[in-house]
Amino acid sequence: MINRLLGKQKNQDSLVERVQQLQQKPLPKHIAVIMDGNGRWARRRALPRIAGHHEGMNTVKKITRIASNLGIGALTMYAFSTENWKRPKKEVDFLMKLPSEFLHTYLPELIEQNVKVEMIGDPSNLPRHTLDAIHNAMEKTQQNDGLILNFAMNYGSRAELVQATKQIVELVQSGQLSVEDITDETMNAQLMTAHLDEPDLLIRTSGEVRLSNFMLWQLAYAEFIFTDVLWPDFTEHHFLDAVEQYQSRHRRFGSVEGEQKA
Ligand code: IPE
Ligand code: IPE
Ligand code: MG
Repeated sequence: MINRLLGKQKNQDSLVERVQQLQQKPLPKHIAVIMDGNGRWARRRALPRIAGHHEGMNTVKKITRIASNLGIGALTMYAFSTENWKRPKKEVDFLMKLPSEFLHTYLPELIEQNVKVEMIGDPSNLPRHTLDAIHNAMEKTQQNDGLILNFAMNYGSRAELVQATKQIVELVQSGQLSVEDITDETMNAQLMTAHLDEPDLLIRTSGEVRLSNFMLWQLAYAEFIFTDVLWPDFTEHHFLDAVEQYQSRHRRFGSVEGEQKA
């Protein structure tokens, strides 16, 4: 299950060459990432956990850049879960400041790279300064039509599904929808990801092999790659390794015949 390729550096190949090679085959349209292991990265260096989060922010920049160069349609980054409020206040406060720090230094490059910033998650209990930074970036990049950089911030898949269910019930109760007409598409349309392709590839770093309440519906047919590499150590090459492995997998979607490669 652990990707054998990950961790093996291929510095002999330049990133440009690898990108060009991977572009010869179909690429995932949407990659979802559970960025995990910041705390352990810091602990191994006897640093406070927040130092790991800060370093992890630099990885987000690197991975956004390479995903954009590769031609990926959307990159959803799990930045803060609905369960992460259980962490010490100091850590939560720091995590809530990261979007503004990240966007303060990186927004000009995102604009230049034609990246469109978006967010999924419940905005209602996010601090004003966190939301302001994200909304500003969304506004400044809304005309861009390159990579969608989608931050999952105060995101929880169960809460999203409960919310979607409530919206569907309201449509039924108000007579706008009949029960017989409820399909997968009805549910898709009510999710925060309604306008995105569903993820083809999920990457989780740090050796944990679980979803932690991330995109439970949307990941139904995604290819999963779990790697032991901690998020702050995750490089462009690790990312390209994951895409390479994705391209070697056979996606069957339940069928036998008409087997198609990713
Ligand atoms: C991921 O790193 C970042 C967030 C969840 C915000 P962690 O902070 O979970 O790092 P570990 O799992 O403790 O190493
Ligand atoms: C998942 O990581 C959430 C994010 C990466 C934002 P966690 O570190 O919070 O997950 P658990 O607690 O190990 O399941
Ligand atoms: Mg963790």
